[in-house]
Amino acid sequence: MFRALCLWVLFVVANGFKSEEFRNCDKASFCRRNRFRPEGNSTIVLRSGVVNGGVYVGTVEDTVDNGVALELWVIAYEGGIFRVRLKERNPLRVRFEPPDALVSDLDLQRVSIEAVPSQANPDVTYLHTNDGSGAVLIVQHTPVQIDLAVNNAYLMSVNNRGLLNFEHYREKRDGDEEGMWQETFRSFTDSKPYGPASVAFDLTFLGSEHVYGLPEHATGSSLKETRHSVAEGGGAISEPYRLFNLDVFEYLSESPFGLYGSIPLMISHSAERTVAAFWLNAAEMFVDVTKVRGDFSSQTIAQRPRVVTHWISETGILDLFLFVGPRPKDVVRQYTGVTGRTPLPPMFAIAYHQSRWNYRDEEDVYEVDNMFDTHAIPYDVLWLDIEHTDGKRYFTWDKSLFPSPIVMQNRMASKGRHMVTIVDPHIKRDPGFVLHEEATAKGYYVKDSSGRDYDGWCWPGSSSYVDTLHPEFRSWWADKFSLANYVGSTPILHIWNDMNEPSVFNGPEISLPRDALHHGGFEHREVHNAYGMYFHMASYEGLLRRGGYKERAFVLSRAFFAGSQRVGAVWTGDNAAQWDHLAKSIPMVLTLGLSGLAFSGADVGGFFGNPDAELLLRWYQLGAFYPFFRAHAHLDTKRREPWLFGEPWTSDIRDAVRRRYMLLPYYYTLFKETSKTGVPVMRPLWLEYPSDAAVFALDSQFLVGKDLLVRPVLEAGAKQQSVYFPGNDVWYDVLTCEGYLGGRVADIVVSLSSVPVFQRGGSIIPRKDRARRSSTQMEKDPYTLVVALNLVGEAEGTLYVDDGKSFDFDYGAYIRRRFTFANNRLESVNDSPIGRSAMEYATDCLVERVVILGLAKDQYRAVLEMSAQHGRVRRDVDAVYGPPMLLKGAQNRALVLRLPNVPVSSDWSITIGKSSVV
Ligand code: GLC
Repeated sequence: MFRALCLWVLFVVANGFKSEEFRNCDKASFCRRNRFRPEGNSTIVLRSGVVNGGVYVGTVEDTVDNGVALELWVIAYEGGIFRVRLKERNPLRVRFEPPDALVSDLDLQRVSIEAVPSQANPDVTYLHTNDGSGAVLIVQHTPVQIDLAVNNAYLMSVNNRGLLNFEHYREKRDGDEEGMWQETFRSFTDSKPYGPASVAFDLTFLGSEHVYGLPEHATGSSLKETRHSVAEGGGAISEPYRLFNLDVFEYLSESPFGLYGSIPLMISHSAERTVAAFWLNAAEMFVDVTKVRGDFSSQTIAQRPRVVTHWISETGILDLFLFVGPRPKDVVRQYTGVTGRTPLPPMFAIAYHQSRWNYRDEEDVYEVDNMFDTHAIPYDVLWLDIEHTDGKRYFTWDKSLFPSPIVMQNRMASKGRHMVTIVDPHIKRDPGFVLHEEATAKGYYVKDSSGRDYDGWCWPGSSSYVDTLHPEFRSWWADKFSLANYVGSTPILHIWNDMNEPSVFNGPEISLPRDALHHGGFEHREVHNAYGMYFHMASYEGLLRRGGYKERAFVLSRAFFAGSQRVGAVWTGDNAAQWDHLAKSIPMVLTLGLSGLAFSGADVGGFFGNPDAELLLRWYQLGAFYPFFRAHAHLDTKRREPWLFGEPWTSDIRDAVRRRYMLLPYYYTLFKETSKTGVPVMRPLWLEYPSDAAVFALDSQFLVGKDLLVRPVLEAGAKQQSVYFPGNDVWYDVLTCEGYLGGRVADIVVSLSSVPVFQRGGSIIPRKDRARRSSTQMEKDPYTLVVALNLVGEAEGTLYVDDGKSFDFDYGAYIRRRFTFANNRLESVNDSPIGRSAMEYATDCLVERVVILGLAKDQYRAVLEMSAQHGRVRRDVDAVYGPPMLLKGAQNRALVLRLPNVPVSSDWSITIGKSSVV
């Protein structure tokens, strides 16, 4: 059996991406029926409507089949969010809705709707709220069309092309098209006992040329057109974007095929306005994008540019959220207000992770761990892939390879390090495996269409698949992570959920059959895209439970859906050691961030294949800026730990990793912001510079927070990089201290060890510069503040600090400082709410260095002032011209204030002047 599996793996690796294994629109009857429907034939009509409890409830009829009764609800939430729900009134069968994608307290955000009939047109009703957003829904009755306007500007329109289609459940009839009641793909037959049930609609974004979102695809962030406009004949340009969680081997770097996760969110952005739409639906979906050119200055709607989209889902209901913006960050805040935000991760999880399939045994683990220390490369987490288990039985250890897992973990813990093990949702069908016996007895497995536990093939061979939709299963599963149940685990062990699309090697499209059955009688087709999120949720709950809800948890998942961000991190799956995959990782991670998944990254080095030293180095230099920073590699690849390529590679990789460690205080502060606002850590430039059209489709550069601009090297042999500097700010090269003015492009010379990174003038970034083995060992280290002056000599920044591991911050145990520089004075003040809180966080950390970028070379004097126990302290601080950091390439061009040694948590100021003046 093992041999067969190995052969299979080799076969797949050798052959790469196989498009014939996956359905395209033409092979999916629901997509075929909808994609090229003629426009303007909508049969869905609003008969009447009332406001009931603040919600607009409409009686709707689909005039097909002698009339089908539908119901429309329009709900409004605070801050410019409308939700449009449409489904059958008396369905033959209840349709699945994935409520857990939404935050549980969403109802609290509801605001009342007022319905006003139009005076001029009896076929129109206006729906308003008093939430101050100025947004109005204009509902046309015959046929139903819903437009969203703000202050008379039309922004979005649903069904203005008449493609709204709701296939109601019904009996089989003569003349039904092929594929409606039974459908075959390759050797697989989908029994489709409930017949056609698709839902589709068109959605137009007015006044827009760029749309983003719809992860996960290995494409550019500004989505390309997939269909020509009607005026251009309406033909296909490519496949529509597909949203269907799949385990795609060796995915192509430019393709609309769906990958491991799906979020039906689309953001439309123009210099004037950002809006978004999110369809809460977990079934397979295809989305066409058509761009209609136009003139932004035109007052006539029809002449303005627009993006016309067509959304087609196999089943589910229409449950569409419309977010009115107006700016990109508003949209992100609105979307994550509905689906939730990434909780603040433990500090170790945002540091560097070392993984490969597989670290062979305990000796290998110790060797790798020691080599990191020998080479003075920091790292926080060592990962164990599937081979650490006893025959791919999760929650077990291969006793000959890992005889003493607790001793091993304790050794890691002594250096402040953590470990991660993999736990997948397929369970080996082994009668002696207790987990399997229990799950079978309790009925916690997905069933095949005939009601038997589904038997599929995955890493362990014959496997059953846990029914993640079952709430009792999830609770039972969560208990498996307790230290008592997970034998050989310790509190430093965290979890990796993989193959949770789910991946079934011998299933249709390498997943579960669509007619497999879940808890509640739902078919797999209805729940598919949410399956992985439910698994992720259950594992995360398990780790929280293990720590008595006092310790933060880290669980990485490959599959995801809207809402996954509430439970952890994701990565972009099995990429390849190729330059184009390196480059594509940027738009992929940016898109995930815009879609709420702020904690994500790509396998550094590329999963498949062997990177040469240059590609590996360039990947570290980019990966060090991903929110989630992990190196990982396929079983068949050559070992590639950072020291294996010799010099200069080892030193350059060390510098790249160390840069991330130096920036951890900044990253941590950004993750805190994300947990409050949803605004991602890694940002496309247009998020911060929404009016600058030059950056709308720029995927080779990104921002970390708003203050760091990164332009990674994405080609072999690069000698220089052209960099676009946004805004009116000045940007400082963090190594050479050279300043560049915004609104321009500059060619920046690069060497192997340098990657263009710039700090925005006007910002203050906190760092910790001392080299340590792990982030945990940096806890008490002093800070460096890097002050980058804007053109009027000012700057500001914040720092958030807590214990890095507990939830005590919820009770006030944190510090938040605000730093400002103005009139030659750097000041640190408290930025957390005043007043006593239940808990406090105390730190003795000092500020040991202040680096100031943007001061002309001169003789300076710096004077520190602060209040101390015995009155006010005033003393000189050593001020010299030196390098901004102690890494290769740093030049002596910054004013460095040495050893001010002021507590980071107290109020102080430092005044700077030419030595003769202060
Ligand atoms: C999947 C994962 C990969 C992992 C492998 C073995 O291919 O995407 O990261 O190493 O399975 O578990």
